[in-house]
Amino acid sequence: MGLALMTKRGVACYQPKRDGKLIGTLFSLYNDPAQEVLMEVSAQRLTARRGGPLRGRIKPPGDKSISHRALILGLLSIGETAIEGLLEGDDVLHTADVCRELGADVVRTGEGCWRVRGCGVGSLLAPRKTLDFGNSGTGMRLMMGVVGGHGITASFDGDASLRKRPMRRILDPLLLMGAEVLKQAEGGRCPLELKGASEPIPIEYRTPVASAQIKSAVLLAGLNSPGRTVVIEPEASRDHTERMLKYFGAGIEVESFGENGRKISLEGRPELRPAPIAVPGDPSSAAFVLVAATIVPGSDVIIESMMMNPLRTGLLTTLLEMGADVEINDRREEGGEEVADLRVRAAELRGVDVPAGRAPSMIDEYPILAVAAAFAHGQTRMRGLNELRVKESDRLEAVAAGLRAAGIEPRIIGDDLIVEGHGGDVPGGGLVATHLDHRIAMSFLCLGLASRRPVEIDDASMIATSFPTFRPQMERLGAQFA
Ligand code: S3P
Repeated sequence: MGLALMTKRGVACYQPKRDGKLIGTLFSLYNDPAQEVLMEVSAQRLTARRGGPLRGRIKPPGDKSISHRALILGLLSIGETAIEGLLEGDDVLHTADVCRELGADVVRTGEGCWRVRGCGVGSLLAPRKTLDFGNSGTGMRLMMGVVGGHGITASFDGDASLRKRPMRRILDPLLLMGAEVLKQAEGGRCPLELKGASEPIPIEYRTPVASAQIKSAVLLAGLNSPGRTVVIEPEASRDHTERMLKYFGAGIEVESFGENGRKISLEGRPELRPAPIAVPGDPSSAAFVLVAATIVPGSDVIIESMMMNPLRTGLLTTLLEMGADVEINDRREEGGEEVADLRVRAAELRGVDVPAGRAPSMIDEYPILAVAAAFAHGQTRMRGLNELRVKESDRLEAVAAGLRAAGIEPRIIGDDLIVEGHGGDVPGGGLVATHLDHRIAMSFLCLGLASRRPVEIDDASMIATSFPTFRPQMERLGAQFA
């Protein structure tokens, strides 16, 4: 259960926390500290049904990964960072509030336009209250890196989904850098208390899995280190932190490492210079439109300004292999990232084998790819999905259960998900459990737009974490939700 409400003073987000009650946080749109509010609400069920084709133009919201990083680098530089196109979803609003708590002045100046006056590397304030990240693993993990590299102590907490997610993968390198964990829940989970290192030890760290969150946490901690911090990743993961650090003037080098890996070296204690940031459209949100327009017969949709960073476009590559009809137009650079307009028309898909090596470039897109696979002819095998088990929900199980509810029989073999496609004729008809996971919610709503019978999801409120305008924007294209 969860709910987001727009009020005169800001956005109030309610999430299940204590005694079955919903504890809400009121995020000010100005520079006031967030406040806790209490309210009881019930889950928002939502049903998607098949209607006419989807048609028109849509601009996806700002990229979530870049939005978090823009606020965080704003906090870590001295002077004013102006951000345009910031994703105003709950996850990012939590990060904005945490930046305020650590000493930044963060103000919304217009729709998607924010201004951050930071304090600079080495000059953060010790927070007076628990840092609450809501549903956001990225916000929490990146901020653990920031705190881990500063001589301050902070408590970290989040909602029921975030409390289940592993944090040891972040704490391990931070401990090597000199941080201390003062309190933690079982298995290195939150709520936890971290005491950062005032003089973080420069380390060379090999990430055990391809994870931009681990890489970013180590680099952010390394910013306040007197030496050179090196991160080696076995396979390249999204590189927004490296790009933005360079853009803000840090000394950072990126080399290839092994077949698909990368080695990133960062000189500590840079003076980060604020620079304006234009946040490009989020390919992980555009993914829902891309698949919906492909599976709803007769659709013809233009997705404007989607980020084309190759470490984020694995879904597009896969859909093209499956036979999707996507024209990539007007490739251009915006805010340091390549973007393009995509024209997507409905198409018949065929099943494919998706290699494990592609996972880092589409890690958040497997739920919606599984939906596309349900509408394909033949089998789709998605390999190497172990990391899906530690997302906002156990996405491997949640996707399989959702497909079953909609009349598809998937199989999980080891870390692979196998879906036998039903061509254009997917039964639908079930109630899908979303487990506080926005991407499960949106994926199965998209399935319901093209299946024979409507599909209901148990709670649509978490969609506000990443794509608050999903419903009205999709309805403008012709989607039928009720
Ligand atoms: C993200 C990295 C990915 C992704 C998450 C956002 C980021 O997680 O799933 O939604 O912004 O760094 P991992 O790095 O743990 O794979």
